[in-house]
Amino acid sequence: MALYSEKVMDHFRNPRNVGVIEDADGVGTVGNAKCGDIMKMYLKIENDVIVDVKFETFGCGSAIASSSMATELIKGKPVSEALQLTNKAVAEALDGLPDYKMHCSVLAEEAIKAALEDYNHRKK
Ligand code: FES
Repeated sequence: MALYSEKVMDHFRNPRNVGVIEDADGVGTVGNAKCGDIMKMYLKIENDVIVDVKFETFGCGSAIASSSMATELIKGKPVSEALQLTNKAVAEALDGLPDYKMHCSVLAEEAIKAALEDYNHRKK
């Protein structure tokens, strides 16, 4: 069996939603304790719905694929649903990641949660 699924390779080669949202409503930056890689997530939110999302990463291929998939999973979704997103759900949507690469998908989940926290903080 190939080490990486076709979906992982597709999202790695053609990552969706890469970039910056200048007037983002929430921005989250997290670092991965295991490898030191960094992920930054930008959210544009209207009426508590994520209308746009972009990411930048200094991460590996699995981090790129995970973030790309994670942004696709939360785009158009209410904030409450995006908060439920787990790295396992992201990995499943990618048809799996090797065990030793699961920590890379955590980066995407944590960056989204950090951006949502920032959004909630700004609202107050
Ligand atoms: Fe660092 Fe994958 S090895 S995010």
